[in-house]
Amino acid sequence: MLSIIIIALLVNLLTETSESFTVVVPRDQIVAHVGSTVTLPCWISPPENAEVLELRWYRPDQFRKPVLLYQHGKIIQEESFRNRSSLTLHSDLSGGLKDGDVSLQLEKLRIQDEDSFRCYVSGESAFDSREVVLKVIALGSAPVLFPQPLDDGRVNISCKSSGWYPEPDVSWMSDERTVLRPGGVSRSRGADEMFSVHSWTAVSHSDAQLLSCSMSLKTGESREGRLNIQAIIFLDPSDSSDPWKAPFIILLICAVLGLVGLILYKYRHKLPGKKQTDQICEDGLTEKLIKEGDVNIEELRKHAVQITIDRERLHPGPSVSKDCKIVREALEYKPSGEGFPYELCAFGAQRFSSGRHYWEVDLVRPPNPSKEYWLIGVAKHGRFHSKDRSALTPSSGYWFLCSDGPNGFYTNSDPPVSLSLTPRPEQLGVLLDYDLGQLSFYSVKERKHVLTMSTRFTGSVAPMFNPGVGDLSPLIILDCPEPVESPVETPVESSQPLLSNSSALD
Ligand SMILES: *[C@@H]1O[C@H](CO)[C@@H](O)[C@H](O)[C@H]1NC(C)=O
Ligand SMILES: *[C@@H]1O[C@H](CO)[C@@H](O)[C@H](O)[C@H]1NC(C)=O
Ligand SMILES: *[C@@H]1O[C@H](CO)[C@@H](O)[C@H](O)[C@H]1NC(C)=O
Repeated sequence: MLSIIIIALLVNLLTETSESFTVVVPRDQIVAHVGSTVTLPCWISPPENAEVLELRWYRPDQFRKPVLLYQHGKIIQEESFRNRSSLTLHSDLSGGLKDGDVSLQLEKLRIQDEDSFRCYVSGESAFDSREVVLKVIALGSAPVLFPQPLDDGRVNISCKSSGWYPEPDVSWMSDERTVLRPGGVSRSRGADEMFSVHSWTAVSHSDAQLLSCSMSLKTGESREGRLNIQAIIFLDPSDSSDPWKAPFIILLICAVLGLVGLILYKYRHKLPGKKQTDQICEDGLTEKLIKEGDVNIEELRKHAVQITIDRERLHPGPSVSKDCKIVREALEYKPSGEGFPYELCAFGAQRFSSGRHYWEVDLVRPPNPSKEYWLIGVAKHGRFHSKDRSALTPSSGYWFLCSDGPNGFYTNSDPPVSLSLTPRPEQLGVLLDYDLGQLSFYSVKERKHVLTMSTRFTGSVAPMFNPGVGDLSPLIILDCPEPVESPVETPVESSQPLLSNSSALD
């Protein structure tokens, strides 16, 4: 009895096969990334050989201009999909066209491809069609956070990312728990149809430690950038005695302890600061993201130069070793004031007016205790008698990082920045990129970028060292291993400049 019913059903189906069929598509929309290859599934039920049918994939109101038309065994593609569209299998188990699978494959997806696609199948006496919705998305770059001081003591943190589609949602969070309201969000759309997003929020140091900015799509995909705001302190940029300085000096602290992109997107340059000045921090941050705490010191050392102290331009305070490599406080020196003895500076005999130059300073040399007081940087002028930090500004030709014992670390930038460095750097790497106007400091042992000062150098600058007062540990200029390509003989005794040909180094 049952078998009779089944046979009856089969007969019924067989007789109807070429008469009528249904087009089947998935219920959900299809989401795919820009540039990827996507399949828009579509098949006919019950299965039948579709080779003899006409298949037409078209967009709304474009019946006569189909994306792909299959007719009499030939495929015709619409211009904008030429070479990007084909018939494909909706699954590995599919029997293909012969089995009624008429799925469409689109390659190298563009944002403009986002649309509904109608799968239309027509036979001699029947036709049917269904619509598949294709959403195209683009996951943007990892957001980059960028701090700027505000007059009220807070910090304006901006967060930028580009290459998104559709517009992402922006959210700010402090210490991974408190949601912050953005101060503002602006979006712009480029010629490539992608969105760039810029958001900012103002925080005070007491509000948060770790600030994160994340951008997310409705699909749940997101990217996040983080900034440790405790590591940033700005000082006041009101001094504009030098007309060239004010607009150019921006101090960008990249002592960012945690910056995480959930998905790494761009692998930027190995050295920070090959880009525009106003992107230093961005690049620095991006770099952190890729190899946090893993600066390529060998790469920096390709720019190594031998530095020696210029005895001619030495304050009477510090004493210098015979080889002009070691500076320490002279025991008999009596500082004339309180606080850091800024006047106690020694200068390198080498002066630089172009190119990249790198040197390292040793701050821990057992059995001496680790050096607590030091000032390391570059200076335009070789002599000064100022005891006052306010006179030692970038606009007057000084750029440095200072370790002032219990007062911590600070720069003399406009605005000044103080930062906490734990552990203390044992060897400090200094990279002067004259042309880009950048002075960067690295903790060699931890392979960490400490910070980059951004400025505009004029004239030539010389390395500057100050051993502090009351700190008898020596400050030692190291002989950096020279890059293998350009071996250099043993350290030179003279105080003649040993300038590298920077074009040869690049
Ligand atoms: C499509 O492919 C053909 C050959 O495979 C090639 O000659 C033609 O330039 C391609 N057209 C486009 C628009 O890429
Ligand atoms: C913060 O910086 C952004 C630009 O990055 C600016 O548009 C915004 O007005 C600033 N906010 C304040 C309070 O200054
Ligand atoms: C530096 O290198 C460039 C090109 O390699 C060369 O033209 C120039 O003469 C070199 N300068 C010195 C001082 O060696």
